[in-house]
Amino acid sequence: MTLPYRDFYYPLNVFMHILTLEEGGVAALHYGLFESAGDSIAIAQRRSTDLLLSRLPQPPATLLEVGIGLGDTLAELTRRGFAATGITPDDKQIVFARKRHGEAVRIVHEPLETFPSDQQFDVVVFQESSQYIPAASLWARMRELARDLVIVLDEFSLRPGGTLHPLAEFLEQAEAHGFTKREELDLSAQAAPTIDYFRQRLPRYRAALTLDLGLSDAQVDELVDGGVNYRAHYDQGVYGYRLLVFRRA
Ligand SMILES: C[S@@+](CC[C@H](N)C(=O)[O-])C[C@H]1O[C@@H](n2cnc3c(N)ncnc32)[C@H](O)[C@@H]1O
Repeated sequence: MTLPYRDFYYPLNVFMHILTLEEGGVAALHYGLFESAGDSIAIAQRRSTDLLLSRLPQPPATLLEVGIGLGDTLAELTRRGFAATGITPDDKQIVFARKRHGEAVRIVHEPLETFPSDQQFDVVVFQESSQYIPAASLWARMRELARDLVIVLDEFSLRPGGTLHPLAEFLEQAEAHGFTKREELDLSAQAAPTIDYFRQRLPRYRAALTLDLGLSDAQVDELVDGGVNYRAHYDQGVYGYRLLVFRRA
């Protein structure tokens, strides 16, 4: 079997394989926001993107999407009339996005840290990409690139004990670089069931994960244990999920 995402970075390829086997396809690489037990992962993921879209100004506006994943949101933003540019350091994601969306989307193969631009963008959005970038570098780049709004959907460490970026430091760095927080929405309870979705399915797809992606049994066990631990971090308030909206002061 040829899987277009086989060589996506681990464990993103694992999550994509589970979604493909279970749902018949992958819509996005971010958490879902669940409102009831009956919500499908696709509906919950869509809810997250809808929330992000609801905080955007009316098009036309210039927009930078940091970390495009599979490119679906970038394509939607472009269709809606934004002058949208997407960036990712991952060339495999670009191949994937190009297959889905052709040349209709503007993608630059570059991490935020070195993205060359003499342009400023009215809006910059991070849907689960801020966690990969040290807060000080991220906000230094926003100082150069963001003219008005920065919108972030992501998970953070709220207390010591985890490995995610601390929310307090993220907020301090925003302020230090001239961005004022306009909104903070706690979405932890809605996001956390996404961890359960994968945790429950990992053992069920053990054979497919070892056969199709070359995972070892130990790696599958590690992911299952990791999921339990991760969920506990949410339950204990060590990790939390936020929508954050900042405006340039
Ligand atoms: C969890 S995925 C989320 C993808 C997409 N935003 C979504 O919601 O489906 C994280 C994204 O951040 C990107 N990323 C990681 N490090 C980055 C960096 N330094 N600069 C820009 N994007 C980065 C990854 O390549 C990937 O596209």
